[in-house]
Amino acid sequence: MSARSSLTVVLAAGEGTRMRSSMPKVLHPVAGESLLAHVLAAAPKGPGSALAVVVGPDRVDVAREAARARPDVLCFVQRERLGTAHAVLAAREAIARGPDDLLIAFGDTPLISAETFARLRAPLRKGATLAVLGFRAADPTGYGRLLVEGGRLVAIREQAEASAAERAVDLCNAGVMAFDGARALEIIEKIGNANSKHEYYLTDAVGIVRDLGGEAVVIETSEDEVRGINTKAQLAEAEQVMQARLRKAALDSGVTLIAPDTVYLAADTIFGKDVVIEPFVVIGTGVSIADGAVIHSFSHIVQASIGKNASIGPYARLRPGTSLGEGVRIGNFVETKAAELGAGVKVNHLSYIGDAHIGAGSNIGAGTITCNYDGFAKHRTEIGEGAFVGTNSSLVAPVKIGNRAYVGSGSVITRDVPDDAMALERSEQTIREGGAARYREVKTRAKKPKNG
Ligand code: UD1
Ligand code: CA
Repeated sequence: MSARSSLTVVLAAGEGTRMRSSMPKVLHPVAGESLLAHVLAAAPKGPGSALAVVVGPDRVDVAREAARARPDVLCFVQRERLGTAHAVLAAREAIARGPDDLLIAFGDTPLISAETFARLRAPLRKGATLAVLGFRAADPTGYGRLLVEGGRLVAIREQAEASAAERAVDLCNAGVMAFDGARALEIIEKIGNANSKHEYYLTDAVGIVRDLGGEAVVIETSEDEVRGINTKAQLAEAEQVMQARLRKAALDSGVTLIAPDTVYLAADTIFGKDVVIEPFVVIGTGVSIADGAVIHSFSHIVQASIGKNASIGPYARLRPGTSLGEGVRIGNFVETKAAELGAGVKVNHLSYIGDAHIGAGSNIGAGTITCNYDGFAKHRTEIGEGAFVGTNSSLVAPVKIGNRAYVGSGSVITRDVPDDAMALERSEQTIREGGAARYREVKTRAKKPKNG
């Protein structure tokens, strides 16, 4: 069987007014990724699979997110919002290239899976002109109803146009369709707007296919997979469904989740073997956790890589750019950001490690702070291997602490400490008046434009 080519057109030009947000609907996140990114990730990929997104006018942000999620995406603009069929035709140029299969999906159904796209395409191989994804809705209000006669899909009736009898039908249009690519344009161009909303309904394609003597079929899926998101409440429901999926996938792959319902995962979390996650942990995007690592309760982790057998928390906050080597121990009330910690480093209590590198085997005492910000710019702290930093020390960056160096408790380190040296530095007890005025003066000077 030769592989069929495809074009997937994702419609994302809607305004999403019911979200009551200044952010476009499709940019809202589920499990840390935008609704749009989820749909694009599920769309067919690889050789012979083209992808297009239809965005509203002036929606550079949506186009940018689409390109970030799938660099191969083509963006088209729908200038006026005249309905779903009109939106599809914004991508006419790509459709006219004649893919074997034309797939249409909506940007607001983030739970759709790659497997469902594949299932929907199967009838086209057997000669169907159109396959529509359907589901049994617990409450069908608002959805287009699929009208089936003798096993054949004969029409889709939108809520506004449906009779009382048709409204009782619970088989609904999920919004995902697969057309025979050779005939798609001819069919969609025939769609008119003679309905109560004067919109071009893509769903009218079914009646047109039937009139042309073609076959339209329904492929069913679960409601959970095709929940359309129009409100914040529906966004929260989708999050629940997605989290349940991610937790199950983590458990199935061998991760120990002691209380799965209390752990929040991101769609892209990568787990090694024998990872244990205690209750009440939040994991954002870009996190990888290697074999044998334990994440204790109430930890919050975003864009961080955690080495083998590391122990994190309880109550740890790992921020973007954190990279922890094998066996690292991060204890309670420790925050890290843009920090690489070598194998076996211990930061066990009450510390902030930011813009820092710590060599293998170093021990960072309770209350150690890397003072990375002087009020104007960020600076780096470099700590060598096997160093010891005593409790309650301030490392005023930029600063280097050498290999095996020893910093006494309560030090304020403002100069580099060489390898094997001992630093017992204390700040001078010079307290001058007018500090606030001096700070304001320096700050004002720093803010002045260079040429002004
Ligand atoms: C649509 C379907 C309905 C189906 C439901 C599933 C039509 C006419 N109706 O209704 O049968 O049960 O989805 O959730 O297709 N969009 C544009 N440009 C437009 C109009 C819409 O890009 O001019 C996009 C929206 O951004 C959205 C999608 O198309 O991603 C669907 O539009 P929406 O208004 O949400 O359609 P529904 O009324 O939900
Ligand atoms: Ca919708």
